[in-house]
Amino acid sequence: KQTFSAEFNVEWFFAAPDGYIRHVLGINRQFPAPVIHVCKGDTIKITVINKIDAPTSIHWHGMFQYGTLTSDGVPGVTQCAIQPGDYYQYKFHTDYQAGTYWYHSHYSVQYIDGLKGALIIHDPKDPWISAYEDEDILMLTDWYHTLALDLEAYYLSPASNGTEPIPDTALINGIGQYNCSLVNKCSYYDTIIQVNTTKRFRIINTSAFAVFVLTIHGHKMRMIEADGVNLDGNIIVDSLRINAGQRYSVLVHANEQNPKRNYWIQATIDSDVMASAPVQPTVKAILRYVDENGCYVSSKKPINSHLNSTDDNLKILDSIHEGDQFIDIYSSLVPLDSPVPQQSTKKVLIEIEFYANDENVNLAHFNNISFLHLMDTTLLSLTRAQQPYPQSNNVQIIQYGDIIDIILNNHDTGEHPIHLHGHIFWILAAGKTNDGDYNSSQVVLNTLNPLARDTASINPISYMVLRFEANNPGLWMMHCHIDWHLQAGLALVWAEAAELLHYKYGLSKELDVCAAY
Ligand code: C2O
Repeated sequence: KQTFSAEFNVEWFFAAPDGYIRHVLGINRQFPAPVIHVCKGDTIKITVINKIDAPTSIHWHGMFQYGTLTSDGVPGVTQCAIQPGDYYQYKFHTDYQAGTYWYHSHYSVQYIDGLKGALIIHDPKDPWISAYEDEDILMLTDWYHTLALDLEAYYLSPASNGTEPIPDTALINGIGQYNCSLVNKCSYYDTIIQVNTTKRFRIINTSAFAVFVLTIHGHKMRMIEADGVNLDGNIIVDSLRINAGQRYSVLVHANEQNPKRNYWIQATIDSDVMASAPVQPTVKAILRYVDENGCYVSSKKPINSHLNSTDDNLKILDSIHEGDQFIDIYSSLVPLDSPVPQQSTKKVLIEIEFYANDENVNLAHFNNISFLHLMDTTLLSLTRAQQPYPQSNNVQIIQYGDIIDIILNNHDTGEHPIHLHGHIFWILAAGKTNDGDYNSSQVVLNTLNPLARDTASINPISYMVLRFEANNPGLWMMHCHIDWHLQAGLALVWAEAAELLHYKYGLSKELDVCAAY
């Protein structure tokens, strides 16, 4: 067991990920932020140093944070936001999970401006480990040319009518293509695969908003992981659809009869509300075949002769199939080993609705409450001082050992990727009804082999039944991972066995006061 230690300086810098130069919020002047690779059982210890003129915080998306609640990174819930010039240490263990994760700012809309990176926990006992020779990450994101705070101000004003800002482009591992032409050559992320080997791709959708459909031309993808949960591998797809916050691992095999080619990897935004947009932003990367000596099959050049390709290479690339079908993920993916508790002890009904407030601003609601982040203290502090929780934080109190069934009724016409901190949940049912209401007499819950994950997408005017086990005392946020919707209030907090938090985090009569910004 080792400790991965690092200093993360949160800083603005100029970058042109898609060819358009703008201010980007990065870590140690990197965008995407550095990839964290650790082995299962390692400890991650990261000091975040705030070098910008606004507060910040970092959330480790998908990490259970057993016994380390104060490293979950949610300002107003588990910590005070890190003030300008200040720092905060995150320290947590990876004993109980492995797979594909990511991290991002959980303060305001900062991750839209770039504050996000991949977090990979490797497991020597990964059941799929002998099925592939090599691996790479495909971190997808939508990308805006306008600063996120300006977009947010517009979105949360009457003028937007609740219509989300439309991304300008999309990026794969921080590289995208904007207005490519003969004079304005674009770059592409390059990844290699050796002929006759299999490669694992870890696909992470880090978008503010976008659902992506991803294809690798000429190749099928065997799905082996969803949000850190290993799958049985029986689903093979031509293209896959992934919502914000979600991750998949797929296996791709390089066994083409004619390997003297390169192939497009393409991700296209497929968000429902963008149907009317003039173009659906698309990003491409290149999958390049190399031979056993590591030379490019197409050119016989050594692979380190160039890092990013330009348009000059395009003539040897295939075009992407039109009309590829993606599968209905939730009904088909089966975990390898993730037995679901057979009975629930508590049912919680949650209604999703968007409607305007008195100022004509369209807000998002769980059970008619639009979440407002605490600024001057934290829910953890309120818990310790045994103070009441504010109603605008929509705190759901649950006991240790409870098996919770969340019945989510989506009355909105949008699709929402619902993410739960501190847990995975099982997706027992999902479907469409006239009004989005779940009707228990008409639905059979899947308690045989349901998919478990930490971010599940609920369809427009549809329901979903999620089960999770209250085995992790803490204050765990649940929210839509469309960041605009989180800012519009689509969030709540589970106070899970909160009385037990005293043992770990002390019993305080005083309220911890967060510095004002
Ligand atoms: Cu990745 Cu609370 O989020």
